[in-house]
Amino acid sequence: MSIPQQRKLAGDVPGPGSRSLEERRRRAVARGVSTMTPVYAAAAHGAVIEDVDGNRFIDFTGGLGVLNAGHTPPTVVEAVKAQVERFLHTCQHALMYEPYVAVAEALNRLTPGGYDKRTLLVSSGAEATENVVKIARAATGRPGVVVFDNAFHGRTLLALAMTGKVAPYKQGYHPFPSEVHRVPYAYCYRCPFHLTYPGCGLACADYVEEQLRTHVGAGNAAAVLVEPVQGEGGFIAPPPGWLERIAEICRDLDIPLVADEVQSGFGRTGTLYAVEQYPGVVPDFTLSAKSIAAGLPLAAVTGRQELMDAPGPGGLGGTYGGNPLACTAALATIELLEHGDLLDRAKRMGEVLGTRLREMGERHRIVGEVRGLGAMMALELVTDRETKEPAKDATSRVIAESARNGLLTLKAGIYDNVVRVLAPLVMEEALLEEGLGILDRALAAADR
Ligand SMILES: Cc1ncc(COP(=O)(O)O)c(C=O)c1O
Repeated sequence: MSIPQQRKLAGDVPGPGSRSLEERRRRAVARGVSTMTPVYAAAAHGAVIEDVDGNRFIDFTGGLGVLNAGHTPPTVVEAVKAQVERFLHTCQHALMYEPYVAVAEALNRLTPGGYDKRTLLVSSGAEATENVVKIARAATGRPGVVVFDNAFHGRTLLALAMTGKVAPYKQGYHPFPSEVHRVPYAYCYRCPFHLTYPGCGLACADYVEEQLRTHVGAGNAAAVLVEPVQGEGGFIAPPPGWLERIAEICRDLDIPLVADEVQSGFGRTGTLYAVEQYPGVVPDFTLSAKSIAAGLPLAAVTGRQELMDAPGPGGLGGTYGGNPLACTAALATIELLEHGDLLDRAKRMGEVLGTRLREMGERHRIVGEVRGLGAMMALELVTDRETKEPAKDATSRVIAESARNGLLTLKAGIYDNVVRVLAPLVMEEALLEEGLGILDRALAAADR
């Protein structure tokens, strides 16, 4: 269903329809499933979501990074409808189908690295991060996995072990799988070494090398997993040279490098994959998910043939991995990214966001840092710019106030004090400006 690309407030937010559904939800749905804004979707198209009370919201959440191509892109919807008529499922282990192979071919062609590749399809980002560890272990015969501070790699148990933030993700779910080693990320705003870039000389990367050599032991590490721009961690884009240095360390120590592009990939940063913006960084594996299939559940591990083929037949897969509807959606989405204007739109959106958010950062004392890459931009909010005390409560207030005025946004960050923008790249500039205006006023209210 196509809906007008305009904000419209029919009454209170949340309205009576959403409030009554919230009541039903409270009695039926597990408490652990949390939702940023208590409004219930009725329809969505492009960059606008309509709720059950007829309110229309500007969407800065993009289904948590899934909707770079927008809600219900017509060509994707048509492709999925056609596939619905053909067949819904066979299970890859019972009977293969062409769309699975076609998605694998496309990802082998599009992911970074000019080497011979193979792809595994699964259904979620967490499955992709879990499977890349299995594959890397099978290929190297080594147990260790190296991950970074503030990382988010998913909510299943191994993925959680690799995820950095304890509350709410990990609290109460111990013990986790072993052999997961954590090293610092280049979070310059809160440098763990209290240094300043570029004078620091990338001391945090040197520390990673030191840890790999002395504490993990290069011969024990199956893979280093890195988000080229950290997502849930708060849209932390490392400074020039850092990712390049991590890639160099991995090369020197012969440890496979995994780019977890689940959130940063598929056009969000202005290139298909964010690593493309870090010269010379060629991961051995790239993980794709979220915006790969415009809302249908699909994720992928793509990597060097000799590594990917280490697990024997039957060692990889799952009932739903590479579901035909999701594969068909992915092929239509890939078409939009390869031959449409989404990457240009991401660059343009990134410019607008960069300019407008920086300008807000100058006016509102609550903004500690404006950062990101391309259209993956965020504001880190603090109660005091000197002490950088995280403004967690104010961040929640900014999000709630924005929603009341017709803008849906999301929180992120290790301290829950980051407002991030994951707007569909199809959003027209006037709507983006309108959304930023709402955010601006919400920040002003929080600043008082
Ligand atoms: C970088 C990254 N990896 C993995 C995941 C997990 O993906 P999923 O929620 O689909 O399991 C996420 C989810 O936000 C993510 O941002």
